[in-house]
Amino acid sequence: MKPAVYKLCMNTEMIIKSNKEREIVCYASRLIYVKNKQISLPLYSKLTKRVMIRTNNISFSYTEYEKTEELESDDRELVIAAREAALNAYAPYSNFKVGAAIRLETGIIVQGANVENAAFPSGICAERSALSNSISNHPEDKPIALAIAAMTKEGLTDDFPAPCGNCRQVIAEEESRTGNKIKIILAGKNKTQIIDGISCLLPLQFKGKNLKINLP
Ligand code: THU
Repeated sequence: MKPAVYKLCMNTEMIIKSNKEREIVCYASRLIYVKNKQISLPLYSKLTKRVMIRTNNISFSYTEYEKTEELESDDRELVIAAREAALNAYAPYSNFKVGAAIRLETGIIVQGANVENAAFPSGICAERSALSNSISNHPEDKPIALAIAAMTKEGLTDDFPAPCGNCRQVIAEEESRTGNKIKIILAGKNKTQIIDGISCLLPLQFKGKNLKINLP
């Protein structure tokens, strides 16, 4: 007589209990084959594992001013310096001139503008231009605020010139290097947004510590 063939079979099922809780149910069943025919499928056992899912939320608040004149004097001065820097931009390809001004802890203001290139990726944004300037010339002086303004042929943009992803990453590196949060001032033609540090614009940052390198 040919012996019966037993096979163990595992099935998993996920039951969505709520948006915070899932239940993973694991059934082990026994399949019995006699002469290649499956003749029964009895329930063998049932294991249940509960998985708790946590949903986190990242949000940030910022301040908005209706008019440049309403800004505190230090911030207003920095916005004016950013607008002035935009005038020096070299942007023959986009005609989009961006200016950035950084206030250092000692009160020094450092400016930068976007510098484009016929080989497009060789160009540099105003924010990184200003940061290269401040780090090269004042490495010990920590940036405390950064204002950004932009203009087209029609003049200052109404929109807030938010820094691009590359610049956010570089601003984040500078905050990490100095251990100092940098206030970010986005200056439209009239309205201004003030953001308390780059973590708001770049949460969940990739940092030097992710490389497991001991920084100086
Ligand atoms: N640009 C900046 O200078 N900063 C930014 O954060 C975004 C873009 C420049 C790069 C380029 O010269 C021009 O704006 C159009 O993208």
